[in-house]
Amino acid sequence: MVALLSIVAGLALLPRYVCGFNVLKDYSGSTFFDGWDFYGYWDNLTLGDVWWQDEQTAMSQNLAFVNSAGNAIIRVDNFTDVTDTGKRNSVRITTHDSYTYGTIWMIDLVHIPFGCSVWPAFWAKGPVWPNDGEIDIIEAINSMETNQMALHTTSGCIHNTPSDQLGNSAQGQGADDCSTASGCVVVESKNNSFGSDFAANGGGVWATQFDTTGIFMWYWPRAQIPPSVLNSSPTASMDISDWGSPSASYPTNGCNITEFFTDQQLVIDITLCGVWAGVQSIYTATCTTPGATGMCYQDNVVGNGSNYDDAYFEINYVRVYTDQAVVTSSSSALPSGTQAADSNSTATSGSSSGTGATLRGTELSPLLLLCFTSIASLLMAPLF
Ligand SMILES: *[C@@H]1O[C@H](CO)[C@@H](O)[C@H](O)[C@H]1NC(C)=O
Ligand SMILES: *[C@@H]1O[C@H](CO)[C@@H](O)[C@H](O)[C@H]1NC(C)=O
Ligand SMILES: *[C@@H]1O[C@H](CO)[C@@H](O)[C@H](O)[C@H]1NC(C)=O
Ligand SMILES: *[C@@H]1O[C@H](CO)[C@@H](O)[C@H](O)[C@H]1NC(C)=O
Ligand SMILES: *[C@@H]1O[C@H](CO)[C@@H](O)[C@H](O)[C@H]1NC(C)=O
Ligand SMILES: *[C@@H]1O[C@H](CO)[C@@H](O)[C@H](O)[C@H]1NC(C)=O
Repeated sequence: MVALLSIVAGLALLPRYVCGFNVLKDYSGSTFFDGWDFYGYWDNLTLGDVWWQDEQTAMSQNLAFVNSAGNAIIRVDNFTDVTDTGKRNSVRITTHDSYTYGTIWMIDLVHIPFGCSVWPAFWAKGPVWPNDGEIDIIEAINSMETNQMALHTTSGCIHNTPSDQLGNSAQGQGADDCSTASGCVVVESKNNSFGSDFAANGGGVWATQFDTTGIFMWYWPRAQIPPSVLNSSPTASMDISDWGSPSASYPTNGCNITEFFTDQQLVIDITLCGVWAGVQSIYTATCTTPGATGMCYQDNVVGNGSNYDDAYFEINYVRVYTDQAVVTSSSSALPSGTQAADSNSTATSGSSSGTGATLRGTELSPLLLLCFTSIASLLMAPLF
């Protein structure tokens, strides 16, 4: 017991790569939707022409479901006639759990919504906007073919682009200021990051590291996914040493992460038109068709919805990793700052004596034990 505790204490002093990252939460398969809240109201945030359905309605209308391949589908209604002034049904979901510094959020997709008026996003937010920060991982509109990443904060967070960032930081006056309306944007430099090309290329994976040292986002088209991610699973730990340079890199030297970002919830949503895709000049830049009115709403949302057959996410998994030890069952020893994976894993401290620091061997996942074992042998080797 004492030996185990000293190993645990020693672990905290070791570089974080020793054990890699442990799975904190996996959203996939038939239980994908269990850990999310559905918005259940119209898009009163970005003023899009959608009604984000509650869970029951979204499920009953097949706007959110798990398909026969075991992938989660989140989509816009493409079967209802919407008449003038009406809104179209869609979905916005937010994780129950918030994720703190030291976590990595991964999403593997085979399809991202696209088309004129369509504005999908996979992003993260703190409780109060913009005070608690916003992290945009996947976001583009209309007929764009390239993904954009961004941070949104209060004043004082500047994007100092490091030389190893692969993506292109937006240029121009104030483009590095994360508190502007557009945020501090990085445009993906790899091909096939959005639109029909993304789907035709087999999709891909994004990983976002939310760390006190910075916020780092990687994108890999399907054929370029590194072995560590390709061979990942809902239970195995992750060694990120083969990930290479990130597409977007926001080091803490220009933006004090712990000052501008608190724990983040993940969000997946699709809106239509609204304050970005629907702005007249932006909309007509890629979406005017002869004979149409040139109005985002009128030309797209109104009608039978057959133009929204491609307005869907198809998600293999969303997975959250942590650089902390993960305790698999009831315990009061969840590392400080780490969120419980779900409500059932938070302890009622049960039979524990209540010291608050008990970490029993039986509560460790087998993987973590393996990890401790190998570290233990490393640490103790010189002693024997
Ligand atoms: C949007 O609607 C929700 C649900 O009614 C409400 O709680 C929230 O305050 C509204 N937000 C804004 C910005 O109006
Ligand atoms: C991206 O695609 C263009 C046109 O198809 C091609 O010329 C270019 O080499 C590709 N870039 C990369 C990084 O693969
Ligand atoms: C960063 O912000 C945190 C939280 O506000 C603060 O405690 C810390 O001193 C700041 N670090 C620097 C280098 O300013
Ligand atoms: C839906 O509307 C489109 C465009 O107006 C039209 O081409 C198509 O035939 C309609 N489909 C159905 C099933 O009515
Ligand atoms: C809606 O789009 C899906 C593909 O996303 C397609 O399978 C389905 O047939 C479409 N529904 C209608 C009524 O067109
Ligand atoms: C927690 O456990 C209860 C009882 O076993 C179960 O009904 C519920 O679905 C579980 N909740 C989660 C989030 O797993």
